[in-house]
Amino acid sequence: MAAGYDRARSLRSRDVGRWMAAASPYLPPAGGRILDLGAGTGRFSAALARFSGAKVVACEPSAAMRAAFPANSPDSWVIGGAAEAIPFRTGAFDAVWASQVVHHVSDLPALAAGLRHVLRPKGHLLIRGGFGRVEELPLYRYFPLAWAEGNAVRLTLERIAGVLADVDLVLVDQVQVEQTFADNADELVEKVKTRSLSPLAGLPDQVFEDGLSALRKDADEGRIAEPVVDRLDLVVFRAPTGSSVGEQAEPPTSPTSHA
Ligand SMILES: C[S@@+](CC[C@H](N)C(=O)[O-])C[C@H]1O[C@@H](n2cnc3c(N)ncnc32)[C@H](O)[C@@H]1O
Repeated sequence: MAAGYDRARSLRSRDVGRWMAAASPYLPPAGGRILDLGAGTGRFSAALARFSGAKVVACEPSAAMRAAFPANSPDSWVIGGAAEAIPFRTGAFDAVWASQVVHHVSDLPALAAGLRHVLRPKGHLLIRGGFGRVEELPLYRYFPLAWAEGNAVRLTLERIAGVLADVDLVLVDQVQVEQTFADNADELVEKVKTRSLSPLAGLPDQVFEDGLSALRKDADEGRIAEPVVDRLDLVVFRAPTGSSVGEQAEPPTSPTSHA
């Protein structure tokens, strides 16, 4: 997925600005620290640093994703690690940004415990993801199996909020942000063709090809509304006043990529 990821997920700078505007009340100012959890190729790390002035440290388990990180976010740092065992010390971060990653996490209670551990008291967790009706996603009608009941991508907000409540992280805000997924039908087909969108990656090849053919046909026959717009949620949780216990590694002190 890493090879086509940036092409498939590219966001207009205007849309990145919308995400940052929605996030900004919960981001620390200059001098603060943000963890970009499951940062992928780092497309949000640079924006988080630029919009807030805070230092951004990224954590990403895939070496291939990390390899692309320096080009996207040259002034931030990325280290290898998974959300089930976040490798930082207690209270290391003022905010954690987790974009389209929580549904990948196999052990949600471990994720919650790690988040509670690395967030400072009253720090914020910002989850970017799709918690709305899957039927409204622009690609659902072509690839319904990708969002079938029971798939990890169907993780509900109730479930994640429940697990976070167990470690005293409380939901404080939820907003929808509209973004352009593709300017036109041809760009949509090009993005889908890379198969770098995680819900599509696990489909059987023939199911993917059939969906792509149907999409191409609609694109060729002008049946796709342009631009192709998509809505995702930003859900914000706040850590309690008291901090958790235990000490782990300090965030790194210089830009580095542990590929
Ligand atoms: C859809 S991508 C999102 C990347 C980035 N946050 C963004 O919005 O561009 C999902 C990312 O989660 C990472 N990931 C998968 N399992 C993970 C885990 N258990 N802990 C942390 N990250 C994980 C993947 O390697 C991938 O980079």
